[in-house]
Amino acid sequence: MIPKSPRPAEAENAVETLPERVREIVGARTGRDAKLVATVKAVKAAAPRYTWVGIYLLEGKELVLHNFIGRPTPHTRIPVAEGICGAAVRENSTLVVDDVNADPRYLACSIETKSEIVVPIRDGSGKPIGELDLDSDAKAAFDARDREALERVADLLGPVVAGG
Ligand code: SME
Repeated sequence: MIPKSPRPAEAENAVETLPERVREIVGARTGRDAKLVATVKAVKAAAPRYTWVGIYLLEGKELVLHNFIGRPTPHTRIPVAEGICGAAVRENSTLVVDDVNADPRYLACSIETKSEIVVPIRDGSGKPIGELDLDSDAKAAFDARDREALERVADLLGPVVAGG
């Protein structure tokens, strides 16, 4: 059987083992900001199809971009009422959008972006306090394995963000 979107074995392995690397990052004796920066770097490095990776933190009714790797974005502050990013917080749920141009909620970062996944980061009581946002230049770039790994990463980040 020919896979629909063939991916190098190396990249797949890097996604599966990503939570292990993030576990080390969050366990290190560094500060919150250093951990969030190192996590974005580790996620970005996990797969070439991850073209933009960033962490937003919830401040009141706005998502504020903490750090990112990829093309610059105009969306450094996103009201919770807007975007796929805002919807993920409102619904407190991971959102996977296979074709961003077909989604009316989408706030464009770059004309080349085709798909997106947004994963909430939650505090100890399960409330969203931020999110992990990934874009890809490929359509439908995020499958169940990406989602599973990124949700584990977001779970690891919860105490880091909640801890201030
Ligand atoms: N596309 C997002 C905005 C953030 S950029 O992807 C970095 C959205 O629709 O909320």
